[in-house]
Amino acid sequence: MSALQAGVPVITIDGPTASGKGTIAHRVAQALGWLVLDSGALYRLTALAVQQQGVDPNDQEAVARAASQLDVAFQGDQVLLSGHDVAGLIRQESVGNLASKVAAYAPLRQALLERQRAFRKAPGLVADGRDMGTVVFPDAPLKIFLVADVNARAERRCKQLKEKGFSANLSGLLEDMRARDERDRNRANAPLVAAHDAKTVDSSNLSIDETVKLVLDFWSGACK
Ligand code: DC
Repeated sequence: MSALQAGVPVITIDGPTASGKGTIAHRVAQALGWLVLDSGALYRLTALAVQQQGVDPNDQEAVARAASQLDVAFQGDQVLLSGHDVAGLIRQESVGNLASKVAAYAPLRQALLERQRAFRKAPGLVADGRDMGTVVFPDAPLKIFLVADVNARAERRCKQLKEKGFSANLSGLLEDMRARDERDRNRANAPLVAAHDAKTVDSSNLSIDETVKLVLDFWSGACK
């Protein structure tokens, strides 16, 4: 990390799938006028590239190579992979499930590490994922661990998918989500765990506005 980057503040928001991290991260970044990193999108983009290029998903080195060759750009709501907008495609459950599987690979995590750190630019960054506070930005001055009950998360994801025009089935989603949580929490490399200095926020019964306010209040407290 350059000396310049070290001075750039980062708020990390880690948590299980569909805990609302993405929405909260975007809203907090907007309120502060900061940049945002959706690190899950990088794992999803890797999974999509693996599918599209016919890479063997069990070959850890080949998956890591595919990740280091990703030609990605985030432009507003668009996620460009080699110039094509794949923002909708990477949200599909099949892509999310493959992302969760390959995310356990150490060579892949290593391949994505510097790419993620490069998002740290002035005036600040809000980074969401699983290991933002523990591995990628361990020096972040504010770390949030965002949790929510698995039923609330499955309902949110179901609604989200339907709004985007994809078919969704609540009991199937619940089952997938439990399996994904289990994998994300129990993998050997960078498992989903709260950093020792993270603040845990349970959003099961909080609105988006309430959660955003809580994070912004923590930030005004942290930077006093
Ligand atoms: O946040 P998400 O559901 O878009 O993430 C997709 C998968 O990527 C998730 O199952 C675990 C993995 N992931 C990860 O291992 N580390 C991150 N920092 C972000 C996501």
